[in-house]
Amino acid sequence: VGLPRDLFGAIADLKRELNAVVLAHYYQDPDIQDVADYLGDSLGLSQQAAKTEADVIVFAGVHFMAETAKILNPNKLVLLPDLDAGCSLADSCPPDAFAQFKAKHPDHLVISYINCTADIKAMSDIICTSANAVSIVRQIPADQPIIFAPDRNLGKYVSEQTGREMVLWQGSCMVHETFSEKKMVQLKIQHPEAEVIAHPECEPAVLRHADYIGSTTALLNYCQKSSSESFIVATEAGILHQMQKAAPNKQFIAAPPVNNCACNECPHMRLNTLEKLYLAMKTRSPEITLPEQTRLAALRPIQRMLEMSI
Ligand code: 13P
Ligand code: SF4
Repeated sequence: VGLPRDLFGAIADLKRELNAVVLAHYYQDPDIQDVADYLGDSLGLSQQAAKTEADVIVFAGVHFMAETAKILNPNKLVLLPDLDAGCSLADSCPPDAFAQFKAKHPDHLVISYINCTADIKAMSDIICTSANAVSIVRQIPADQPIIFAPDRNLGKYVSEQTGREMVLWQGSCMVHETFSEKKMVQLKIQHPEAEVIAHPECEPAVLRHADYIGSTTALLNYCQKSSSESFIVATEAGILHQMQKAAPNKQFIAAPPVNNCACNECPHMRLNTLEKLYLAMKTRSPEITLPEQTRLAALRPIQRMLEMSI
């Protein structure tokens, strides 16, 4: 299949032809963000996926996100522009090892961050995202012991916020681990007026310097309402596109990675391109599929999350 000259126009035509909706995460390439019908964080995207009336969901994000959309919509076609768009955090929690871990704590409730595979969701009681993790843990009776998986940094942050001790799976995200505390401090000295805003997947050494911590949507909202004129942003650099659009007169500085690399861009998210998104719509593939038994088991904790997030 060849590529049309006007990719933006061709994607708009295909949306109408297929009755498709394009859902995109903030960590996608700016071009993809610009063609999205809905752009959001993981919670917003799953809420949109739960209520869409489109026949086809084109998910511009990573595999676990598209899989969540499919779990909620077994009868819709769910397309992911690049099926290899995985997640280091989801990969850090293999199902067999997690089953053994869970068996060691039989009386624990399992709360899993949405950044995990359908197999892990199927072994969980409640799913959460970075936007609702604190609130969900607060809704659990105080005497109920909890396993929190797979992100240890989010888990530690939630523990601190709620005063709840939880058994943590020791996973992490390769992008949010990359920020250097030393370089962050140097940057703060150069920009003493800037506020540091950070995603809770960052390591504690970075979160310590943050003036505000939240999900990608929360960070975007915060920088618009804050009276500060400049921000050091410790999360995947894709979000800067929306921040700059929402507050064109403010300054957004990407927090520096340890090495001089582009490792503050998620290599998995960035496997999707506008060309691949067009081709996925044109050829109606690659599509997300999963065994019905896994889907049903994974659906239950996602539904609990949606009910607990109203
Ligand atoms: P949120 O979408 O909850 O902000 O999480 C960011 C992330 O790492 C997605 O992969
Ligand atoms: Fe996974 Fe991190 Fe990429 Fe998000 S940014 S998809 S958590 S590797």
